Amino acid sequence: MTPLPDSLQRSWQMAALSRDLRDKPLARTVAGTPLVLFRDATGTAAALTDRCPHRNYPLSEGRVSEGVLQCAYHGWRFRADGACVEVPGCELEPGEDRRLAASPVAVRELNGAVLVRLSPDEVDLPDLGPWGADDHDHFWWSQGVWRGRVLDALENVLDPFHTNFIHDGIIRRSGRRMPVGLSVLAGEDWIESIIDQPQPDLGWMSRLLEPPRERSRTRLYAPTLVQARWEGPNGLTLCVTVFFTPVTETTLAPYACFTTPKGRGPGWLKEAAIRMFLEPVVAQDRRALAAQLDNIERFGAPRFLQGPGDLLGARVAQLYQGQRIEPASEGPFEHRL
Ligand code: FES
Ligand SMILES: [Fe+2]
Repeated sequence: MTPLPDSLQRSWQMAALSRDLRDKPLARTVAGTPLVLFRDATGTAAALTDRCPHRNYPLSEGRVSEGVLQCAYHGWRFRADGACVEVPGCELEPGEDRRLAASPVAVRELNGAVLVRLSPDEVDLPDLGPWGADDHDHFWWSQGVWRGRVLDALENVLDPFHTNFIHDGIIRRSGRRMPVGLSVLAGEDWIESIIDQPQPDLGWMSRLLEPPRERSRTRLYAPTLVQARWEGPNGLTLCVTVFFTPVTETTLAPYACFTTPKGRGPGWLKEAAIRMFLEPVVAQDRRALAAQLDNIERFGAPRFLQGPGDLLGARVAQLYQGQRIEPASEGPFEHRL
């Protein structure tokens, strides 16, 4: 199987929802690295690699007291920065707290997301516009761990043509299409697909739920962060920010935050409606990613062909690998969706 690229170590990856990280240690794997998350005495999120430096015991099986994580095997205690502050039954010599330290991982917590960065490089998150903004409603929808490759999930979410088929009737329709203009915009470390269309999609989800639509845009921020925005004549109607966290080479954990302008109904109602309508769509994509991976494994390696609708071409894979791409502005091209 294709090994995970180094770009995943250098970027911020979502490890958990804030609301899931409470007073117990939480085990999470990000880009192949097992981690333990916990909160220090001030409530600040912390992460260590999930291996006690003493005898390799999983730290996630330990417990947290006064913001310090205690290994369940011999009771060594570790601070958020990894320092070993106690070896039960023994005195620590000066400097031993560092010699016996666990390995810390960079953490930041933002808008309900606990993010980790495995390598010490100083990369930042892109500006994600309305994500987390006070004058919008937000809710998180975490999807558990899926079987599939992150790269295939990125291709899926950036590709509108599968929506007429896999989501036939729900999002778009295979038997009835409308003319759209497709454009591509790219910077060195992002690429965006833009769809201009005269009305919402022809599937029943859009027809029942969606206010007038003029344009939708989906942007990939290298290597694995995607934000999609739907816009009508009065501006933004919906924004979805998805952290596609690679777990291992063959599994991923998508975390999606749905953002809507305040005003059109209470937040809880919008959340209930979006969840109800999107549930089957999410299940269809989840099944597709697993089937794709099963077949890649059956043949031993992936092989991709770019068709006339694949306007982003190989650039999604390049960004995922951490490569820079040429800034571009292409289209609009006429297609039918
Ligand atoms: S293995 Fe963790 S304290 Fe010994
Ligand atoms: Fe889909």
